Amino acid sequence: MPRETLTITDNRTGRTYDLPIDHGTIRATDLDQIRLADGDAGITSYDPGFKNTAACDSRITFLDGDRGILLYRGYPIEQLAEHSTYLETAYLLLDAQLPTTEQLDAWTYNITHHTILHENIKKFMEGFRHDAHPMGMLLSTVGALSSFYPRARDIFDSASRRRQIARLIAKMPTLAAFSYRHSVGLPYAYPDNRLSYTGNFLNMMFRMTELEYKPNPVLERALEVLFILHADHEQNCSTSAMRGVGSSLVDPYAAVAAAVAALYGPLHGGANEQVLHMLQEIGDVRRVPDFIKRVKGGEIRLMGFGHRIYKSYDPRAKIIKRMADQVFAVTGRNPLLDIALELERIALEDDYFVGRKLYPNVDFYSGLIYQAMGFPLRMFPVLFAIPRTVGWLAQWEEMLLDPERKIARPRQIYHGSPRRDYVPLLERS
Ligand code: CMC
Repeated sequence: MPRETLTITDNRTGRTYDLPIDHGTIRATDLDQIRLADGDAGITSYDPGFKNTAACDSRITFLDGDRGILLYRGYPIEQLAEHSTYLETAYLLLDAQLPTTEQLDAWTYNITHHTILHENIKKFMEGFRHDAHPMGMLLSTVGALSSFYPRARDIFDSASRRRQIARLIAKMPTLAAFSYRHSVGLPYAYPDNRLSYTGNFLNMMFRMTELEYKPNPVLERALEVLFILHADHEQNCSTSAMRGVGSSLVDPYAAVAAAVAALYGPLHGGANEQVLHMLQEIGDVRRVPDFIKRVKGGEIRLMGFGHRIYKSYDPRAKIIKRMADQVFAVTGRNPLLDIALELERIALEDDYFVGRKLYPNVDFYSGLIYQAMGFPLRMFPVLFAIPRTVGWLAQWEEMLLDPERKIARPRQIYHGSPRRDYVPLLERS
């Protein structure tokens, strides 16, 4: 079979170049040979926002944005959401296989027994203002963990790497819950090893004076499903931050802090919080048409809508929308749901949204569930960061073990001033 190639003719020189195509991709470095003369700089590709650039070769998550397909290690997200648990899914993302009973028990034990934080972390928490955003607290304290585990720098020692991975997955819910308890002035609630990953998180968030916290099984399972849906999503902004920062060979705590920071932004993991602010601002179903008008006028964005990759309904949003009824049966219906449903109804019939292929994404309905479960709005991005930690770590480990790994270092087009001489202060006009 002849290799597939892309033939490029350089009109400047008349020369042609055959660039190999592999998996529908040409290598950007192959463009470097296209130059006017020896010694000149070769051609580079320009791609702000990396809209059409593959930065890695991955085996973790498959996404087909046109058909709304999401697979973790080949397994459809719908099947995992129905049958799996968060920790089993985490194992799958890291090890590429579903675990046996023995493997799952050992993995669950390992995570459960790493949930406690060093007591000094509480001192970091004390230093934050009472109204500090929990996402700011989470990113600072997870970065601080780097100083507690100096062996974490041995990133090419697989045993050390796996120890840090378990610690991070185990400790993120504790850090998250502590940041919430600090912000409302409640004493920290310690982990309870008898509970599941999500049950324990609910315990650390909401336990008051009861001796034993018993999570509601419907809410515990709903959170489990939400965690599965958020566990990985291939090369999004925070994962790219994790890979990019990790490519300098820093320890995983520092790299996860960078990923949390990337997730914090309103265009990424901060969107679920913004959706609720938006729904509260609209306040009434009758105001939806006016709001849509403002969106179409370019004044504001419809938060929780649109996606770089999905050009059809986000499969995660479908699952969350279906699950909302089960949660509301326990918590009572979130009155903002009607506004969200009306926004979706109008948007999906409107040429502006249809033409741009803008559909609800994972953040559109998740916040309504979190709010009904009693989570304050500021915790929403944190609720995204906890489950995404395993995705970041699986991608980080894959990056480290990739024989083609290089430090992330993109190029630029320079349009600044040409060379000029320094002018002493008193001679400047
Ligand atoms: N509301 C109104 N118009 C929109 C929206 C929106 N939510 N999203 C995109 N558009 C328009 C945009 O104005 C542009 O129109 P035009 O071609 O006339 O200039 C067109 O659609 C393409 O938008 P883009 O910004 O070039 O698309 P992108 O791929 O760079 O951005 C996005 C993707 C998710 C940042 C964007 O859709 C957005 O800002 N959505 C709202 C924030 C949001 O919900 N983020 C969560 C994403 S999913 C969870 C996650 O992974 O974090």
